[in-house]
Amino acid sequence: MLELQDLLRNNRDWAARKLAADPQFFSRLQHQQAPKWLWIGCSDSRVPANEIVGLDPGEMFVHRNVANVVVHTDLNCLSVLQYAVEVLKVQHVIVCGHYGCGGVRAAWERRQFGLIDNWLRNVQDVAEHHHDHLGGLTGGTRAEDRLCELNVLEQARNVCRTTVLQDAWRTHGAVTVHGWIYSLQDGLIRETGFRASRREDVDRGYHEALESIRTKQS
Ligand code: CO
Repeated sequence: MLELQDLLRNNRDWAARKLAADPQFFSRLQHQQAPKWLWIGCSDSRVPANEIVGLDPGEMFVHRNVANVVVHTDLNCLSVLQYAVEVLKVQHVIVCGHYGCGGVRAAWERRQFGLIDNWLRNVQDVAEHHHDHLGGLTGGTRAEDRLCELNVLEQARNVCRTTVLQDAWRTHGAVTVHGWIYSLQDGLIRETGFRASRREDVDRGYHEALESIRTKQS
């Protein structure tokens, strides 16, 4: 079992390894942050953003919360998005959910954990919005998996609907929003099919991805 001191020792070892491989690594990062990607993912400890896409520090701006939710009143998420798009000028915003998400499961089963229930209400809204489709599925796991995918789709569309993306697309335009989903089972990311590079892409991308999620066999 790891103790707190082990974390600090691991950190020293990691820094030493980085320096040995690239003596300029930290001095370069200290003076510049120019990530191309913004990742909006789940806080789940099994979905470490940089690691699963093989990126080093400095390469990806990251926002994580329980069940990768994007709501228009969340100043935290909106600030990250605004800074990433307008100041860092990321080229891609990736909303990445994951199968087996505890937050999605809690929302689906309407379990109560306290304060977080209010946050997960956003995912319950997604479930209610797609009630007809989800209710027609057989087997709890399948519906839960579909809800994980639908949640990615809804949250990716929410990103597109923010003033940040709307303004970016109206002015310089060079940012694309993607909806991805990660599998804890095999460590692989799948695309939901949602991708939007301009305002006109959003509705079409949403409906195409929705159709592909709905007609899935497994
Ligand atoms: Co999760």
